[in-house]
Amino acid sequence: IPMERYRNFSIVAHVDHGKSTLSDRLLIMTGTIPEGSQGQFLDRLDVERERGITVKAQTCTMLYNYKGEDYLLHLVDTPGHVDFRAEVSRSYASCGGALLLVDASQGVQAQTVANFFLAYSLGLELIPVINKIDLDHADIPRAREQIETMFELDPDGAIAVSAKRGTNVEQILPAVIERIPPPSGGKETPLRCLLVDSWFDNYLGVIVLIYVADGTLKKGDKVMSAHTRKRYDIKELGILHPDRKSMQHLRTGQVGYAVLGMKNISEALVGDTIMHLGSEVEPLPGFEEPQPMVFVGAFPAEGVEFTAIDDRVNQLVLNDRSVSLQRENSNALGQGWRIGFLGTLHASVFQDRLQQEYGASLIITAPTVPYKIVMKDGTEKIIRNPDEFPDPALMKSKVQDLQEPMVKAIMSFPQEYLGDIILICEANRGTQVDMTFLSHGNQVLLQYIIPTAHLVDDFFGKLKGVSKGYATLDYEDAGYQSADLVKMQLLVNGNSVDALAQVMHRSLAERRGKEWVQRFKKFLRSQLFEIVIQAAIGSKILARETIKARRKDVTAKLHAADISRRKKLLQNQKEGKKNMRQIGRVTIPQEVRV
Ligand code: GTP
Repeated sequence: IPMERYRNFSIVAHVDHGKSTLSDRLLIMTGTIPEGSQGQFLDRLDVERERGITVKAQTCTMLYNYKGEDYLLHLVDTPGHVDFRAEVSRSYASCGGALLLVDASQGVQAQTVANFFLAYSLGLELIPVINKIDLDHADIPRAREQIETMFELDPDGAIAVSAKRGTNVEQILPAVIERIPPPSGGKETPLRCLLVDSWFDNYLGVIVLIYVADGTLKKGDKVMSAHTRKRYDIKELGILHPDRKSMQHLRTGQVGYAVLGMKNISEALVGDTIMHLGSEVEPLPGFEEPQPMVFVGAFPAEGVEFTAIDDRVNQLVLNDRSVSLQRENSNALGQGWRIGFLGTLHASVFQDRLQQEYGASLIITAPTVPYKIVMKDGTEKIIRNPDEFPDPALMKSKVQDLQEPMVKAIMSFPQEYLGDIILICEANRGTQVDMTFLSHGNQVLLQYIIPTAHLVDDFFGKLKGVSKGYATLDYEDAGYQSADLVKMQLLVNGNSVDALAQVMHRSLAERRGKEWVQRFKKFLRSQLFEIVIQAAIGSKILARETIKARRKDVTAKLHAADISRRKKLLQNQKEGKKNMRQIGRVTIPQEVRV
């Protein structure tokens, strides 16, 4: 099949608008998977299915006969969420166009908007598809209207379908062929492959998904990465149909998989360019080093050996190239890890995975974000751990400015919740940048710049709380801004529990400090010696709670005459106390996610 009859496309959609259902339909229609094959093919991971989100891109090649000619269609799946913005944009970069899927019963939502802008900025040809027209409350005219006003796309070109029932789905692939341009790479020019995705396979090791932008990639070729300069041999390559189908070569414009003999998934950088060894080319544009946006500390819970789970935690990270891991030492919690994530959703998915695999054996601290310290000598430093926050003694003499990361939050929800949602945004130190009323429907699209620290502090949960679950949220990076930051410490009997220290905006310190010590008090009530819990900034104590030593009257039930037994019990109690003091560390239960 000549390149003029290739089409590479993806589906831009909000969570739950039916991307997987539609993909399944297309795969069945083209005979790629059998009719009636259960489940949505493109979502394979359990965690994804449970949470109803697509994390890992699963791509598929289809063969389709249109007007008597065979076409090779590559459906490039993308993670729906912008936590994975770099990956989403690389998937789009391998495509000539995309289906812009809108749920007729819900209309355009925040995620559709964010992904639309990304696809549009990469020059993709967009075909609007209105889904779920079988539902009673489907509002097709409203969806058409939104497609026109929000995206400036011709509503007459929209295809109204029911992915579930199959209605009108047969119109989609002809539209893909007629409206989306074929790939335009050079067949005779030196090889340039875009690395779109990667995953780990127990038998083959690291597998990469690549788009052959220029040239031809053959089995046995010697290649090199433009960014890491590492060299590889192409051990195997082929298309996904939907399972791996080994081939001798991938031609210009094709999307397929390759096994390069990479040892570690961290070598596979999304957006990297793979070229032939000895034929240096200009790397493809758009490469970004993934930057973790949220960090959590994880420590083995009481009674769990660090070494016993270190390997398993490392293994989990090995399989997820967008997670970073560092060892961390805490005086109170012992040895643990600091885990970095690309975004909040990603962090919570990963925490679920840890939770599933390790149950109660890990204590996970609250998420923190990377802050920036600008020194008087002009140097800048990003700190990812509250430990690295400058000493108050040096603050005046050395530090020029403290900055926190910001995001642009894009929210959509029914108009009746506008008042409450604005209150939440303002309470989270937000600055409004835009408010659009989507015509006809009563939806509002609201944009606020808010500190990332607030976004990761269950901002979405709060939005859903006041909007009966109707609000949708998406966000994009909005750089750093000066902020009055402090490091708050939690002291237990005068000792700082280092792993629980947090950097935060000064305006939050007082309230958070009170919450902290109260929450802690609840958990520590049953100790046998007096405990003073304090929240402090430097030497300034913001909040304090004391837990009185609870002398259990162990003798109460005994008869007065039973002296020797009474002595023994008191002796036991004393030893018990001694032991706890000696340990010198307050047992911190797993439920404490301060
Ligand atoms: P993510 O994978 O989480 O991004 O979701 P998705 O966009 O892939 O949505 P999915 O295909 O999983 O569909 C979400 C829900 O909508 C499922 O319960 C589907 O059965 C349902 N659904 C999809 N298409 C239609 C449709 O045309 N009509 C109706 N009534 N329901 C549909």
